[in-house]
Amino acid sequence: MNLAGKVAIIAGGASGLGRRTAEFFVQSRNAKVVVFDLDDRAASELRDTLGERSLACLHVDLSDERQVAQGVADAVARFGAVHVSVNCAAVPGPMRIVDRELKASNCRRFADTIAVNLIGAFNLMAHAAAQMARNEPGEDLERGVVINVASGAAFEGQSGQSAYAASKAGVVGLSLPAARELSRYGIRVNSIAPGLFDTPMARSVGADALDALTAVVQFPNRPGDPQEFARLCAHICENAYFNGACIRLDGAARLPPR
Ligand SMILES: NC(=O)c1ccc[n+]([C@@H]2O[C@H](COP(=O)([O-])OP(=O)(O)OC[C@H]3O[C@@H](n4cnc5c(N)ncnc54)[C@H](O)[C@@H]3O)[C@@H](O)[C@H]2O)c1
Repeated sequence: MNLAGKVAIIAGGASGLGRRTAEFFVQSRNAKVVVFDLDDRAASELRDTLGERSLACLHVDLSDERQVAQGVADAVARFGAVHVSVNCAAVPGPMRIVDRELKASNCRRFADTIAVNLIGAFNLMAHAAAQMARNEPGEDLERGVVINVASGAAFEGQSGQSAYAASKAGVVGLSLPAARELSRYGIRVNSIAPGLFDTPMARSVGADALDALTAVVQFPNRPGDPQEFARLCAHICENAYFNGACIRLDGAARLPPR
């Protein structure tokens, strides 16, 4: 899919990987972007930078299906269609399964993380795809592209990451059945599993933990640049043969147990 003039919803687009992808889609591909995020201040700063002719921001909680449905409808009202969805919204949700007093964890934190990271991914994919299916088919009869963001934790979740890792493994598991089911509409579905990227979420773990995570990146030995993630998103859109895949983007990093 040629992104010029196309409309992309980028959830979590006010920060980090989503923000860089929104900038890249607008500035280097001339796409229109609708950001779904909870951080209204950061989203409106981005809109002021990129201009409201290219970017709209909507306050949408991805875990709330009603808000997602309304957000997709509002995106269509604003720019006329939806061709791409990129879901970068997530929460890290660190938790213990058994606490220091040997009490089993309440499942609430686990469920809250799943609600944003996995059910949120489903909500956006389902409502965006229902809209994409109405597009006029383009080359190869293509109508839309869905990109879900997983994590290296889907494969090597660390101690304390049971909820996050389970949610991201769920995102990986979504790709193939969704690609199979939505192929009849000309919609492709892929996921990206980033390793360590230099974003507010990664920096929230603290300097020592960040150094330890950087140490396991094989080459190049540094955190990923959000621009490298944004370029992969654009490539997935532009290369019609990417479908049903999960692509690790991690400098061959494999997370240690803790
Ligand atoms: N940065 C990394 O090292 C790294 C590594 C692996 C995977 N990831 C994944 O990449 C994606 C982007 O991460 P990031 O590092 O840019 O994070 P980030 O924290 O910088 O950005 C996430 C954005 O999602 C938004 N958000 C959170 N909950 C939301 C909700 N319920 N509804 C709508 N928006 C919501 C936040 O407001 C924020 O703007 C996430 O899926 C994350 O799990 C990041």
